[in-house]
This record gives sequence, C-alpha cells and structure tokens, in this order.
Amino acid sequence: MFMFLSTILIYGQEFHPGKLWPDNFGKHINAHGGGIIKYGNRYYWFGEDKDAKTTAALVGVNCYSSKNLKDWKYEGVALSVSDEPGNDIEKGCILERPKVIYNRKTHKFVMWFHLELKGQGYGAARAGVAVSDRVTGPYRFLRSSRVNAGKYPMDMTAEQIAELNRLDADKYKEWWTPEWNEAVKKGLFLKRDLAGGQMARDMTLFVDDDGKAYHIFSSEENMTLHIAELSDDYTSHTGKYVRVAAGGQNEAPAIMKHNGKYWMITSGCTGWAPNEARMFSSNSIWGPWKQHPSPCVGENAKKTFNGQSTYILPLPKKHTYIFMADEWRPSHPDDSRYLWLPIQFVDDVPVIEWKDSWKLKK
Ligand code: GAL
Repeated sequence: MFMFLSTILIYGQEFHPGKLWPDNFGKHINAHGGGIIKYGNRYYWFGEDKDAKTTAALVGVNCYSSKNLKDWKYEGVALSVSDEPGNDIEKGCILERPKVIYNRKTHKFVMWFHLELKGQGYGAARAGVAVSDRVTGPYRFLRSSRVNAGKYPMDMTAEQIAELNRLDADKYKEWWTPEWNEAVKKGLFLKRDLAGGQMARDMTLFVDDDGKAYHIFSSEENMTLHIAELSDDYTSHTGKYVRVAAGGQNEAPAIMKHNGKYWMITSGCTGWAPNEARMFSSNSIWGPWKQHPSPCVGENAKKTFNGQSTYILPLPKKHTYIFMADEWRPSHPDDSRYLWLPIQFVDDVPVIEWKDSWKLKK
C-alpha cells in the first residue's frame, strides 16, 4: 500500500528545469552535484551546500526529503564539514558530488564524495566516505584517500601491463602532444599513481540488482573514468576496477540500467562551463563500453542545455528515468540551478530533449 501511494504521488507533478526551486522554507534548494535515493515512501536528495560567494565547502552535504519529487523538505546538514584544523573535511575544503546508497546487509547508509583537502586546490583528488544509521544523517566521516593503490585494472592484459611498465614519464613531460595522449591511454598516470592510489574526482555510485555497488569516477588527471567495485559493506574498494574511455576526458558520470543494459552519461572537462554530454553503453558493468552520440537533441543540445550531468533517477514505473543536471553559476554558486529532464527512448536508445516545463505521466 505504501509503495502504491508513494508511487502515485509523483505523477502529475510539474517540473521547471532551470528555475528557482524553493524548499519548504521558501529557500532555493541547496543540493548541487547531487543524487537521490528512495527509502520507505520518500525520496532523499543529497547534494553540495553551495555558498553565495565561494565554491569551497563551508557547510557540507545537505539533505532534503520528498514524497512527490516536487515538494522538498529541508532535513538539515547530513554531513558537516569540520572546524578542526587539518581535518580531512575541514571547513574550506572542496567537497563535491556526494551520493548515498543503502546497504541491506549492514542496514547503514553510505555516502561517498569527491574531496579536495583545504588549501590544495584540486590536487588531492580523493574519495571520501561517511556512514549513518539514519538516512537523513548525521553521517560520520570515516576516511578519505586515493583509491585502489597497488592494483592494476582487472581487464588489463599481461602484455598491456608490461607496456605500461615500460612507459618512461620523462619522455612525456609536455602535455597534449599526440605522443603524450597515446601514453595517457596506455596508462601514464595510472602507472605514476599505482603505489599511492588512483586519483578520484567527479563521481557517482551505482547499486546493481545483485546488491553489488560501484564507485564511478574521473581518474588519471580527469583523462580516464574508472569503475570500481565497493566492498560488501560499501565502505571500501575491493581492488577490482576497469578503465573506461581511456584518454577521453570524461567527468560528471551518471548511470542507469535499462532493459539489462548499462547507460552512462558524462560531460567533457570544461570546469563550471557547460559542454556537450557524452553517452556510453555496455552489457556488463565491466565493459566493453561503447560510445554513442550525446543523448541531448534540439536547441542548445551541444551545451547540454547549459547543464552538466549529476545523476539518473530511476522511477517506480518501469523504463522511466529522470536525467538530473546542474546549471552552475560559479560567481553565485548557491544560485546554481537544477535541470531535471525526462529520458525518452528512441529505438531503446536514451534521448533527452529540453522542456521549459513537463509532467511525469502515469
Ligand atoms: C567541473 C566538475 C565540478 C567541479 C568543477 C570545478 O568540471 O564537474 O564538479 O569540480 O569542475 O571547476
């Protein structure tokens, strides 16, 4: 009955992509680079609290709840930055793209996010993890680090590993040359970071039908995506991972599974400025991933309608998904907007069209 009620509440709600979106206090929702989970009969939206002036984290991760996906109640700060100097998540750090998943075995909610240590720009490139017994938090910060130290991608052949080990970094000091690009594809940065762990920036999480969870992130100087398996309790990496689109410069990964196929939408790497979305599909989470044209069509599609992907929300009705993107406003970060658009399928391939307003149909 619960499921039924909560399902019908979302239909008929009207969405206005790019417009201010007030919460229950009348304040524009502050949950950027976010993601959503459904728990019980409510949806929970987690995202970056953005300040009016700086894109650094002064608060942490906000949480909102809703039964209908339109009216959101502010549940407070789910994960707070720390006042303690030197703490990994010290106030003033960069804390981006938080995602929360629920672990059925431990009954805990697990949050992963991209963390940059205070005062180090984007140099740290770490993944952070926090847990909570309650969906709304407070989440307890566990640790942050680079990932999969000492591990080669599981799909690299012995030959490819040997080739990687022969790469001489001194030969590729100049970036963006064709030779450098080839070396990057072969794993120039993967080799450099093997001992200390791979870089982890823009990210998302995905829980598969079998309960296995994956951390999908921009690695290797944002040149290559990694898909990495999480441990059974979702709080660490197992060391199993693959590289996707080596040298392809993908950021902002968002993923869904539709009809047994995995679809991933990403952006290029142009900071806060929008660029053309990319799309990939695979029959297995481990690839091989095939690249498709951008799913966006129509006016301004080349700029992803001024947005950058952050999450794909699957809805209870089969084959219904919402594409969630951020329209960043870096000079007034808290005024950044949310672009939620329905994913349509043409010949079973995702297509996203701009709509000034739209409703979820039953
Ligand atoms: C974007 C990225 C954002 C943020 C920004 C900083 O490309 O997707 O999450 O890191 O760069 O410039």
